[in-house]
Amino acid sequence: MKIVVIQGPNLNMLGIREQNIYGPMKLEDIHSQMKGFAEQNKNEIEFFQSNLEGEIVDRIQECIGDADGIIINPAAYTHTSIAIRDAISAVQLPTLEVHLSNIYQREEFRHTSLTAPVCAGQITGMGPFGYHLAMVGMTQILNEMKMMKDQQAKAKTAQAK
Ligand code: DQA
Repeated sequence: MKIVVIQGPNLNMLGIREQNIYGPMKLEDIHSQMKGFAEQNKNEIEFFQSNLEGEIVDRIQECIGDADGIIINPAAYTHTSIAIRDAISAVQLPTLEVHLSNIYQREEFRHTSLTAPVCAGQITGMGPFGYHLAMVGMTQILNEMKMMKDQQAKAKTAQAK
């Protein structure tokens, strides 16, 4: 099974930007931990970061037929982007939303997520560990999906006999 991780604007600046909010860890270090976990669970993983809304929409669309699940931190677009929300909704893949900071404890404009309602779940305020939690959650979702598929295939062959 394949997981695509999509990171929104300014997340390429982790380790440099507002360390009091986002901590010292760099995006590449978060990704290498996620890769290790994916490998342990025999899942494929691919990473994508962009500062541009349209590129994020394109990458979500490209997940059709290519990925089984999406982990996304839409960053500031969480609060503004109907286009990203519609793309998540369109691809019909299990999607988990991650935020390093607790968006509900911050400025009021961050309290609304336009994307969370079309995601399977949201993890917010756990720092880089939130990405690990998302990996655990996504692995569980994908395992359940695989089990369902296997059961359906079994039932079909039993019916054909
Ligand atoms: C963020 C929270 C957003 O409000 C903010 O614009 C970000 C990062 C987070 O991970 O905590 O860029 O998504």
